Amino acid sequence: MTRPIPDIAGLSRRAVIAGSVGLAATALSPAPALAATSKPLPKGFWWGTATAAHQIEGNNSNSDFWLAENVKPTLFQEPSLDACDSYHRYEEDIILAAKLGFNAHRFGIEWARIEPEPGRFSEAELDHYLRVMEACHAHGLAPVVTFSHWTVPRWFAAMGGFEHADSPALFARFAERATAKLGPLMAAASTFNEANIARVIQIRPEVKAIEPLVRAMLAACAKAGGTDRFASVLFADLAKSEDNQVRAHELAFEAIKAGPGNFPVGVTISMQDIQGVGDGNKAEAVADAIYGPWIAQAAKADFVGVQTYTRVRVDANGIMPAPKGAELTAAGYEFYPEALEATIRFAAKRTGKPVFVTENGIGTDDDSRRIAYIDRALAGVRACIDDGIDVRGYLHWSLLDNFEWVFGYKQRFGLVAVDRRTFKRTPKQSALHLGARARANRV
Ligand code: BGC
Repeated sequence: MTRPIPDIAGLSRRAVIAGSVGLAATALSPAPALAATSKPLPKGFWWGTATAAHQIEGNNSNSDFWLAENVKPTLFQEPSLDACDSYHRYEEDIILAAKLGFNAHRFGIEWARIEPEPGRFSEAELDHYLRVMEACHAHGLAPVVTFSHWTVPRWFAAMGGFEHADSPALFARFAERATAKLGPLMAAASTFNEANIARVIQIRPEVKAIEPLVRAMLAACAKAGGTDRFASVLFADLAKSEDNQVRAHELAFEAIKAGPGNFPVGVTISMQDIQGVGDGNKAEAVADAIYGPWIAQAAKADFVGVQTYTRVRVDANGIMPAPKGAELTAAGYEFYPEALEATIRFAAKRTGKPVFVTENGIGTDDDSRRIAYIDRALAGVRACIDDGIDVRGYLHWSLLDNFEWVFGYKQRFGLVAVDRRTFKRTPKQSALHLGARARANRV
């Protein structure tokens, strides 16, 4: 089956009628006018939101995270359970995103569902993701697919995850099987979400304190599964797993590129604006530690996915706390939207590849701060494009208030609120704000 990728440029300016799915019932002010100084972005620029399977689908019970959320002891403040029930409500989400004015939609396909037992693939689950992608196309959204957003099947974690020598071939086999069915509908894809995430976590000074709990949680997972090991992407032992994960990316990249389908394939990287402070600062060393082999990998791919939330200041002693009096987001880090511009410049320079902003956002209960964050981040995108940097899209994290991993549902990154009992979606003012810019393709 081959299907043409939609003409994104044309779609972004198609008439969008606010008034049904989710928009009519909200008591929001009309979408704000664009600044008089706004200018068009390149034709075909992708505007949208990013999501992840485990964080929105619900009942991802064959995944390693589900087990970790439900053992004792656990680091998770609460389990994911139904999440946003997007496994069933995906079409509602897609229609809502389209009505807001977006033309691209990033989401994950869940390996734990698609390959529930080693070598046994579920055609029904692949069909599910086919329907998700068909809905994207039907509503004018380019499907941007993540093959692995941290979760893996339980059986894979129980054999040691990416610590196991067979892991590259196993991940590539999954990528090949999924591409065989879904490739023709993909508009872009990444192998791993934030391939460097374990590095980002391990460099934080505060992580030492939770290490014993993490070890106990992983031991409890192994015991529950009747195995002697249980490895998670988030809490990986990089000495054992990173080379395999790099190889897994390389093999999966080849498998996806082999088709069917013809679309850009990249890898997304967790990026901070790493700012050196004072003489002898260790900014370079921190950058090396945070990115490891992944900048070089992105340089060999079709694009680099930039995912940025804040900055990190580094002096001669290492990572510094946020400046005194700085505004902190609900996630505890500094409100610093300018980090996006710096990381786009860094990523473009170091990889020489087109940049997609595959995540950028803020956890907050004060939606006016989300709007301020968006405006300042987009000003950075604009400045990069004005300087000739090839930025292809801006995908905001996230469409919905969702399951924020170990923090549960208390950190809210969504443009759209979700009632935890009824699953009703209610767009926030920020959704209209970003949607208006998307529809006009101007910043
Ligand atoms: C991850 C998302 C997460 C977001 C906000 C990113 O690092 O890719 O899954 O929800 O940050 O914390």
